[in-house]
Amino acid sequence: MTKGAVIYEKGKPDVFKWEDIDVPDPQNDEVLIKNTAVGVNYIDTYHRRGMPHPWPVPDLPIVLGIEGVGIVEGIGSEISDFNVGDRVAYALPPHGAYSQKRVYPANKLIKVPENLTNLSDNDLAALMLKGLTAQFLLKRTYKVKKGDVILIHAAAGGMGLILCQWAKYLGATIIGTVSSEEKAQKAKDAGADYTVIHSKGDFVKTVREVTEGQGCPIVYESIGKDTFKRSMDCLRPMGILASYGHASGAPDPVDVIELGTRGSLFLTRPAIMHYMEKREDLVNSANDLFEILKTGKIKSNVNHLYPLSEVSEAHKAIEARKTIGATVLIP
Ligand SMILES: NC(=O)c1ccc[n+]([C@@H]2O[C@H](COP(=O)([O-])OP(=O)(O)OC[C@H]3O[C@@H](n4cnc5c(N)ncnc54)[C@H](OP(=O)(O)O)[C@@H]3O)[C@@H](O)[C@H]2O)c1
Repeated sequence: MTKGAVIYEKGKPDVFKWEDIDVPDPQNDEVLIKNTAVGVNYIDTYHRRGMPHPWPVPDLPIVLGIEGVGIVEGIGSEISDFNVGDRVAYALPPHGAYSQKRVYPANKLIKVPENLTNLSDNDLAALMLKGLTAQFLLKRTYKVKKGDVILIHAAAGGMGLILCQWAKYLGATIIGTVSSEEKAQKAKDAGADYTVIHSKGDFVKTVREVTEGQGCPIVYESIGKDTFKRSMDCLRPMGILASYGHASGAPDPVDVIELGTRGSLFLTRPAIMHYMEKREDLVNSANDLFEILKTGKIKSNVNHLYPLSEVSEAHKAIEARKTIGATVLIP
């Protein structure tokens, strides 16, 4: 029998029940995957709690989880691009990754290149969703280029460390916010040129100093309520506030006129499922991600491993800001 972490109600991390689940046969355009490593993402905690989020919170009961790596064990009748035994990865809804096996739509599945031997399944489970998100944030939401001074919040988190490493590779100067000395060091190791610890410094002041009053072309804003307004203070005219997450809660409403008085600012709430909706975009982004992963310039930073049956503990740790880098679950 296959096991999975099921939730019957939304709420605290303890709502997960590790139990037998039914896994249907893959239908026409579906693939049956045996998960070997499962990624934990802050998004999963929004859905577990029932917090507002750009994609609909699924109906209950449900097996959460949107990122995994595994082996194809079965294919539907219309599948021609995947074979039993392929090493595959995924990073998009539908939920269902917190399980030993699942079915998944083939048009959202990625075949792991055979020459990507430098990365384990655990590495990939840390790098697919966060790596694809970093890819579109750094190259499509705004094209980061040499000389840009950018602000990355939660710079030592799963997303943060990948953004820092990739943005450094692109030639940016990085200011990162964190909540501790240890996290500041990790962000610096990943490429942050300046770090601001929330309790000790003021990131707006640091941005002003580093940019000589000009402001940043983009702020990667993933904290939300606690920092959102001050993130706007960090932008240069026509700068972009990329509000791609809200770990501290949904940001307060924005006065549109204020975007003008602050300098014709752009505000966007970018989300992976929109940027990767077309198969072509998903494949191109994944290829771009795999190219940089082959160079070894981006490390996975899998610092927290749990058996999948202990997913509640993993959620408690990430929500308590105790994690640095990525968390991976072993089915
Ligand atoms: N838009 C998209 O498509 C997309 C895709 C992936 C991820 N995301 C977003 O990216 C962000 C990071 O995701 P992740 O999975 O890599 O998580 P993470 O960064 O590893 O964990 C969240 C981090 O947020 C910071 N934080 C600040 N205030 C917090 C608070 N009140 N409660 C909890 N954490 C707080 C903490 O870092 P410090 O302790 O250093 O402050 C914490 O480590 C999330 O906001 C997520 O929603 C968005």
